[in-house]
Parts: sequence; structure tokens; C-alpha cells
Amino acid sequence: MDDWEDRADGQAGASSSQQQRPGMLRLNPSAPTFSFNPGASTFAPSWAPPPTNSGAAPAAAAPEPSYGQPAEPARPAAFVLSDEERRSLQAAAASSSNTEVEKATAAMADVHMADAAPARVKPLAEAASAPAQSAPAAAKGPPTAAAAPPASSGAAPAPMDEDEEDDEADHAAREAELRRINEELSKADDREHLNIVFIGHVDAGKSTTGGQILYLTGGVDERTIQKYEKEAKDKNRESWYMAYIMDTNEEERAKGKTVEVGRAHFATDKKRYTILDAPGHKNYVPNMIAGAAQADVGVLVIAARKGEFETGFERGGQTREHAQLARTLGVAKLIVAVNKMDDPSIIQEGGKWSQERYNEIVAGLTPFLKSCGYNPKKDIIFLPMSGLLGHNLSDPVPKNICCWWKGGTLFSELDGIQPLERDPLAPFRMSVIDKYKDMGTIVMGKSEAGIVRKGDRLYVMPNKVPVTVSAVYRDDVEVAAARGGENLRLRLAGVDEDEVAGGFVLCSRSKPVPCVTYFDTQLQILDLLEHKAIFTAGYKAVLHIHSLVEECEITKLLVQIDPKTRERNKAKFVKSGAVVIARIAVEKPICVEQFDVVPQLGRFTLRDEGRTIAIGKVIKLPKTLKAGD
Ligand code: GTP
Ligand code: MG
Repeated sequence: MDDWEDRADGQAGASSSQQQRPGMLRLNPSAPTFSFNPGASTFAPSWAPPPTNSGAAPAAAAPEPSYGQPAEPARPAAFVLSDEERRSLQAAAASSSNTEVEKATAAMADVHMADAAPARVKPLAEAASAPAQSAPAAAKGPPTAAAAPPASSGAAPAPMDEDEEDDEADHAAREAELRRINEELSKADDREHLNIVFIGHVDAGKSTTGGQILYLTGGVDERTIQKYEKEAKDKNRESWYMAYIMDTNEEERAKGKTVEVGRAHFATDKKRYTILDAPGHKNYVPNMIAGAAQADVGVLVIAARKGEFETGFERGGQTREHAQLARTLGVAKLIVAVNKMDDPSIIQEGGKWSQERYNEIVAGLTPFLKSCGYNPKKDIIFLPMSGLLGHNLSDPVPKNICCWWKGGTLFSELDGIQPLERDPLAPFRMSVIDKYKDMGTIVMGKSEAGIVRKGDRLYVMPNKVPVTVSAVYRDDVEVAAARGGENLRLRLAGVDEDEVAGGFVLCSRSKPVPCVTYFDTQLQILDLLEHKAIFTAGYKAVLHIHSLVEECEITKLLVQIDPKTRERNKAKFVKSGAVVIARIAVEKPICVEQFDVVPQLGRFTLRDEGRTIAIGKVIKLPKTLKAGD
């Protein structure tokens, strides 16, 4: 037997007494935040925090938070690496290869953690009713107060107090109330919200496509585009002007590479979207992980240009790593956008798109994506496009350019994605990505489960600080209530800004999120480092789970699973490609959930020296540790 229960008891006290957790961010102080991109709001007004109708100052009015990048206060740095870390990442990345990854992933097919991703995760419709306009118009202009119901109106009645001592009657009343709110939210606007992450190899055209989408949906005006054209030309990067819409900092523009995950909103008359534009460069995989961890759907951008698809897809290329990571991180659906179909290296006579090249890429990628756990029939949609020219994004590609494409556009495919389900009655969970001060403490994050309303009384975990929600901003518009799957900012009363950190979780008081210092996990070992080729108890790595980055140690290797026979055998050590059940411990309590309860808070990656060495899901938490203690 093991010491599961004993240790659980021991840590309960430690958890409750814990206050600020200086150790948590020791490795990488800025790491747990992903890059929200407020600097971009000048170009895409819909990102700008709007005026509110509550009289409370909106987020926009707040001084920009300090994220340790004084030179660029408008752009909070995410996973900003120290020079030392960056150097070690670069060295590790240079030697990176995915040799075992594909084999291991194939072997994992039966036990792949993502296979168990419940289909009940669903972002439901919004509380605020952005006017139901046609796609091009919907994203124009900043969201206005008129688009959001006042905090006291409609969807959100006076919140019901919720406490751990609540009895059954209290719970029943609250459930009835939540059902009613949920219905009202649906009536207000049944457009669901989707977080899409753009992933893929460096230079595939992710930022260009993101920028083009904003342009097409009215988020960027002609003059701004002209300004970027000039700026890009001055930097000898003429063709990057569309990417400048998403790549807002100097370093990104000068190098033509996204570093931090950019974020933007757009809407069609069917859905509201948040774009998360991940960096493709291998040095910034931690940022990509942070972006993908919040996504419902991935757009894997592939450059069809001659040689580019091949480079991205070869071992060590980010097409492979991103697709695998995205699957692990819960991105259940993938749109594979075969981009740069207009490129001179592959274009045919008369400027026609090459069906041959398209088919070659689809045929090359399909078996690999299948090995990642995607079902080619149900989970993957391929389409050709040109992000730069805006072809096959919102409107079908003109027939004189491509007569053979009979499928949909990027927008129509996104609109057609089956809604994921989220249980409105589930206890509220929001992992904190970032925080700052503005008439109270504002925390940013994605709500993963349950409904939150203005006035709700929650805990900030793991410190168990009781707080009251004094305002809810969804996509920066103040709303009365919001459901799971939304990007939120919550203004909190009762907590100091420095009592909250990235990786903390806001949760319901009656059913707080579990806080643990160890948990059992099913791990798929990918490519171990050459000089650390043995995975065994004592292995130390960096755990990336929801918005948390924490040093961890494998304290026990429990069993190895044979992926074919599912046979379980004791193992003292394993090598690349193995599938194991192991126990992972961290120094101080962290908030996690079992994968089968809240998958978004129960799946993770282990990284070491800048390389992803394992992907995993939390399968068991210490039983006797009462959630929230
Ligand atoms: P990272 O952020 O560094 O990973 O790159 P990215 O995927 O965001 O690529 P980005 O949008 O910065 O574009 C890279 C280069 O590809 C730029 O020169 C773009 O103009 C070019 N590009 C992007 N999309 C297209 C396209 O549809 N056609 C052509 N011909 N070029 C494109
Ligand atoms: Mg980019």
C-alpha cells in the first residue's frame, strides 16, 4: 500500500494556512500568464474594454497592469523567460527531435487521455446580446454598453449566497436558480462562444490569417492596414503587414515571429469567437501551450509553399508538436487550414490553386493526425485557403482561382462545429491567467465550469481567500452573468491583488476545487532528453496544468501500461514512448481536478529543459484531502 491517505492528512493543514505562494512562480515569474494582447485593441476596437453601464470603471480605464516588462506596459508578458532560461531553451530546442513521439502517440491510441475528453464541455451562449448582425458587421466597432445587459437586469437576479455549510435545500434552490439563469442567458443570445487557437509551424501564416479575419470582420480599418504596409516595408518585411495586426510588439514585428499568444475577438451571426494566435517557433512552445490550454477548437495552419509543409512536418517541426500538444490540451476538433495556396512556388497556370499540392498535404497529414488521437472523419476538417489574400476565409474562393474546392470556408466550418457542452449546474471554476488592480482586484481567465454572476461569493484557491464578485466582464463587456467557456475578467472584493497569482483558481464555496500536493496520473512519455533518457521516481520536470506552471517531481512510478494489451506491469524505470501511471508531487498545494471531472483542469504537460517530455491526465486525487482544505 502507499501513503496516499497519510500524506493527504498532512497536507490539509498546510494548504489552509498557506497564504501567498512565493515559491509557485519561482521558476518563471511571468510564466503562468498567457499573453493577452491589449496593445492590439487600437487596431481591433472590439478588443477594447468598453464603457460600462454600471458606472464602474471598465478595465480600459485601469492603469495597465505591470507584468515585468516596463518597456511595453501595454502588453503583459506571458511566459517571459529569463535570459538564462531562454538560452537553455534555445540549446534544448536546437537539439530537439520528435523521434519517439509519433511511435509513442500511436501506441497510446487506446489509452490516450484526450480520447476520454467528455463531449459535455460546451461553451453556451452569452449573457450579453451583441447585436445579431451579419458576419462582416458583427465585429465592427467596440462592444457597447447597450450590447450588454446591466448588471442588475435580466439574466442575473440577486445572487444567492453559497457556502460550504449550505444544506440540501440551499443547494436545490441554487440549482433551480442556475437553471433559470441559464435559460435566460440562452434567450438573451444563443450564439455560443468558441476559443480558437491558431497553431502550426513557424511562418505558416497564423498571424496573417488572424489579422485578415479581423480585417474582414471590420475589426481593422483600411488606414491601419496602410500604416502597417508602410511599417512592414520599412522593416523589409513587406508581406508581414497583415500579421502586424496580431503581432503587436516591436520584437515580433522586427523578427516577423509571434512570441506571445495574441488574442482577438470576432463574431459571425452564428457564433462569437476568440482567436488565440500562438507562436510557431519552438522556443516559445510554453506560450503555445498556454494558448492551446484555453482553446476549444484548433486551426492548424499549414504552409503549402514548396518546402515549407515538408519542413514543418518533419521530425522536430512544430506541425507535429503542436498537433500533439493541442490534442493533449483538450483541443478536440481541428481545422487544418492548408494556407498559402496562392504561393508562386505551387501556383498553376492562370493563378490557379494546385489540387495536387493540396491532396498531397492532406494525404501526408492524415495518418499522423490519426496517431495523435484525432478521428479523421469526425474531428478533422481540411480546407485550402490564402490568409494573405483572404481567400476562402469568409467568402468561398473564386471559381476562377479554384474550381475544384467544393467544401466550406474557414468561417462556415467554424460556424458548423458542433457545440461542446458545459454543465451550467457544475460548481464554478476559473483558472486565473492574470490579475491587476482596478477599483478592486481584477482577475482574468477562462471559466471552465459553471455559471458566475455579479455578487457571487467565491474562494480564491489554494489560499482559500473568500471573495465577492463585484463585476463580471465577458470579452471585456460588463455582463450580469456568464457561463462556462468564456473569457472573463472578474472584479473581486475582499482580496488583495498580491494574494492572487496566475495558476490560482476561483471556485464555488460549496464545492471548492481540490488542492493537492500530489496526484496520480496517466502519463505518456514522449521524447526524453538524451542525457536524461530514463524516466523513473525522482525525475524532476516542469508541470504545465491549466494556467499554472510549477516544478514537480515524479515520486512513484506505479505501473507501466502496455498500450496494445492494456496489461499493467510494475516498472521501476521506463524510456521514451512508455505509458505509465505515476505519482507526481509538487512542493506546495496546487489546484487540479480529475480529468474525468473537469478535463480542462486535469490535463497537463511535463516539460524539461524546454522540451515537452510527457503529456498526462490526472486520474486520482488524494481521497481524504477534503476539497478546499
Ligand atoms: P509565427 O508567428 O512566427 O509562428 O508565424 P505565423 O504562422 O504567424 O506566420 P505569419 O503570419 O507571420 O506569416 C509568415 C509569412 O508568411 C509572412 O511573410 C506572410 O506574408 C506569409 N504568408 C502568410 N499567409 C500567406 C498566404 O496565404 N500566402 C502567401 N503567399 N504568404 C503568406
Ligand atoms: Mg505569428
